[in-house]
Amino acid sequence: MCGIIGILYKGRHVAKDLVRGLKLLEYRGYDSAGVATINRDELLIEKDKGRIDVLNSKLGFEDMPGRIGVAHTRWATHGAPDKINAHPHTDCDGKIAVVHNGIIDNFNEIKDELIRKGHIFKSLTDTEVIPHLIEEYIKNGYSYRDAVIEAVSRLEGAYALGIISLYDPNLMIGVKQLSPLVVGLSEDGVFIASDINSLSPFTKNVIVLDDGEMVFLRTDGYEIMRISNRQRVDKKPLTIEIGTQFADKEGYVHYMLKEIFEQPVVLNYSIRVQEHYLNLMAELLDRSKEIFIIGAGTSYHAALLGSMILSRIARLTAIPVIASEFVSQYGDVVNVESSVLAISQSGETIDVLKAIEFAKSRAATILGITNTLASTLTRVCRVYIHQQSLPEIGVAATKTFTGQLAVLYRLAMVAGKRRGKLSQREMDEMKVEIAKIPGVVEAVLRNVDPIVKKLAKKYSKTKYFIFLGRGLNYPIALEGRLKMLEITYIPSLAYPAGESKHGPISLVEEGVPVIFVAPPDETRRFIIGNMEEMKARGAKLITIGYSDDSELKELSDEYIPMPMVNTLFSPIPYVIPLQLFAYYTATVLGRDPDKPRNLAKSVTVL
Ligand code: AGP
Ligand code: GLU
Repeated sequence: MCGIIGILYKGRHVAKDLVRGLKLLEYRGYDSAGVATINRDELLIEKDKGRIDVLNSKLGFEDMPGRIGVAHTRWATHGAPDKINAHPHTDCDGKIAVVHNGIIDNFNEIKDELIRKGHIFKSLTDTEVIPHLIEEYIKNGYSYRDAVIEAVSRLEGAYALGIISLYDPNLMIGVKQLSPLVVGLSEDGVFIASDINSLSPFTKNVIVLDDGEMVFLRTDGYEIMRISNRQRVDKKPLTIEIGTQFADKEGYVHYMLKEIFEQPVVLNYSIRVQEHYLNLMAELLDRSKEIFIIGAGTSYHAALLGSMILSRIARLTAIPVIASEFVSQYGDVVNVESSVLAISQSGETIDVLKAIEFAKSRAATILGITNTLASTLTRVCRVYIHQQSLPEIGVAATKTFTGQLAVLYRLAMVAGKRRGKLSQREMDEMKVEIAKIPGVVEAVLRNVDPIVKKLAKKYSKTKYFIFLGRGLNYPIALEGRLKMLEITYIPSLAYPAGESKHGPISLVEEGVPVIFVAPPDETRRFIIGNMEEMKARGAKLITIGYSDDSELKELSDEYIPMPMVNTLFSPIPYVIPLQLFAYYTATVLGRDPDKPRNLAKSVTVL
């Protein structure tokens, strides 16, 4: 899940811009980083374990001379995150530098072969076989360009590569197979990068590479080639408008807090996604015999809630499935009459893409909801909806989760209307209600922020948390738990409240905090029963409920008061206190909520 970037400029040094772009890719991994440039026939490399900013000060990335360079920010898959394993990797002679995002499945076999031929490996990564393999082909008489083509033809797995070399210091090569890679073109020079956002400070003209393609870039032009048949591919650049406002924390201490507080604004965008695409998607769903709705992590929670909403509003059955489980759980029934609705904010999660690849091979209809234009997901879908939550940098998904929910509600409404399950009047009423949600979220942020901040201080020393909810708010309990454990590292459980007595209650003893998501809907009276059961065993009850619900308030040890909201839409505002709770707990504990350990924003390895 690393981030890679490469720049070749006509007339100036690249290192400053490499670092600038790399910082925008840091969400993809941040255990180590490195830069390679070529200057006066010398390949310069600086790399180490640690964050980009720290390494930049320590190693002087930005001061490295050269008009061509590649850079990498790593999330280790093979070999510990340390200096030796950090990218770029080189061949024995130190003439070829490679940065890689992905995994080379057959690296062991290639490595054994190369070791037998006398190559000396320095790192434990899979990546290092690539420069050595290129070197081997050169030794065998191939030109540098052909050696790279031969070498990449042997690689199996997922890889986006950036390659520069002393053999041809004016050529930058990019390769794309399963991991994302885009090409950028500007007056000043040419670029490759793992995503479009990282190129936004430099150019709007991009080409998105497809799997199995490689690109040869010089300052005066580019050539794209299909690796399998070595034929030239004609692709023209697209102009993509992407703001750079996301690069700034706008005065907030962390991106996560900024993104939580941005929700009232961006929810408005998600609620208003174009009806035309919602209609197309609803039509395809309506025609399907089976519908699966898939995602990973937070996006799975959106899928779970999406399935409930489609049932409730549109009377459609959509089976929610964790993306990595899809093929083994339901692969056998997928066919031409099935639809798979994939939810992925990045549009690059490999578990999602693999599930789709399988479903596509069975002729199923592929649909998607994503926050990333030109992502792989958008290119494999029959219809996709861009949720318009603006880029999210914090590793923990917050505004993109509520954005996904907003789109799913709209989709269910349109599908309900099409299928005759909602009258025009009901549809109009729902539209009025959903339009109020951004305002409700704004009120929640204003009112509960100081309360939650205090609670985070008070409970940060707990051994674990238990999150409980029912019905539409069960996925919200799951999401509260995921946020908490992902950024605070406090082990936490989440269950449907009714299920709590079938096991989890054994963990309850004096003082264990149990968080109830308890809006005033049809689940409320059952939740009260569950609260009583927990209280009787010494739990501390932290309840998120309607501000005027005196019965709930009295029963609870802590109360997070919520404004009145149409209960059908309660999951969106009710997740907000849980996002804040996780955020403040992480900061009290001194954790970095934007970059939790071992995680990366976009998981592009299986
Ligand atoms: C959310 O806070 C997590 N960082 C993670 O679970 C995430 O939702 C998951 O990796 C899926 O990502 P996607 O939406 O980009 O596919
Ligand atoms: N497999 C490479 C490594 O471990 C790249 C990792 C990745 O892209 O996640 O260094």
